[in-house]
Amino acid sequence: MDTKIFKITDCSHRNKKILTEAAETIKAGGLVVFPTETVYGLGADATNEIAVGNIYKAKGRPSDNPLIIHIADPMDANLYTYTNETYYLLARKFMPGPLTVVLKSRENIPKKTRGGLSTVAVRCPENSIARELIKLSERPIAAPSANLSGTPSPTCANHVIDDLTGRVDIIIDGGDSTVGVESTIVKIDDDGALVLLRPGKITLEELSGVADVRVADAVTRELEKNEIALSPGMKYRHYAPKADFILLDGSIPQITEYVGTQGENVALVIYSQYIADISQQNPNIKCYDFGDENDIEIQAHRLFAILREIDKAKFDLVFAPLPQRNGIGLAVYNRMIRAAAHKIIKL
Ligand code: TXA
Ligand code: MG
Repeated sequence: MDTKIFKITDCSHRNKKILTEAAETIKAGGLVVFPTETVYGLGADATNEIAVGNIYKAKGRPSDNPLIIHIADPMDANLYTYTNETYYLLARKFMPGPLTVVLKSRENIPKKTRGGLSTVAVRCPENSIARELIKLSERPIAAPSANLSGTPSPTCANHVIDDLTGRVDIIIDGGDSTVGVESTIVKIDDDGALVLLRPGKITLEELSGVADVRVADAVTRELEKNEIALSPGMKYRHYAPKADFILLDGSIPQITEYVGTQGENVALVIYSQYIADISQQNPNIKCYDFGDENDIEIQAHRLFAILREIDKAKFDLVFAPLPQRNGIGLAVYNRMIRAAAHKIIKL
């Protein structure tokens, strides 16, 4: 399949033709990659089972892993799900934005889109290109992250081009994703309490201001063989670098010393302020700049691009410090322990 790539930065009049063509492609059952503030999405008509089937094929994704449906207005959720009071509290506070809410699905969303579940995940992105595309398509757009299954989520168009050229009809290049990790996902329980299924930019602390929140076990630890994941995506090792990726729980001097004894072909993902010293002490260690130690937003923004760079460089071993867990740090922690397949060494 030929993939058309369009570069646009906004929804101004001169880009209308491109967005209209992309919307027509969605209506006709095609696949369109679009930017969002979190990561790029691989979109198709959420109500068209064949189109949705093609998303799973293009990504190489198991069909029991459900998709998020993207809507242009938070108030549209009621068209496809049974909304409740807690949903509107969340919507008022955090939408449009990087929050996905799991609710009981209406029948107009095919089982294929929901991976066979009775619930469906809904999200109204903040990115204006994404919202304009959904509006012009006149239907909800089902979209997982626009990477091949097993590679990190794409945070710029080049990542998508590497993974999906020839597998989708259109890629809309809207620049870098501002957040860089996928949306926060919460499920609303029958009693109105929230279960945090995936941490993201909308933090646990912020959600706790709206309702009681329980954190699903899989967010911070590996599930045992017999435990059932509340979100099907949690049972897959998603963001898996090719090299052995190991997290180190210790001080910066301990980390530097340890990595220095691990051979010649090693990389270290480390905070900006330590790079000059580490490189001087140990020129063998290839350092990747994770941003300022105290700027977790930057770390979230850089993580997936760094993981992709590391894959291209073919290291034997890659190390990183165990990140802090407050705010968006919990999202960074969750993505890193999964990429490391829960390998953490206490120094
Ligand atoms: O930021 C994001 O959420 C991006 C952009 C494109 O919107 N999308 C994204 O989609 O990350 P995806 O498919 O890569 O991740 C969605 C996760 C999966 O782990 C899936 O298992 C979970 O959401 N999920 C979807 N529907 C669900 C449901 N009904 N119940 C529980 N988990 C669900
Ligand atoms: Mg994904």
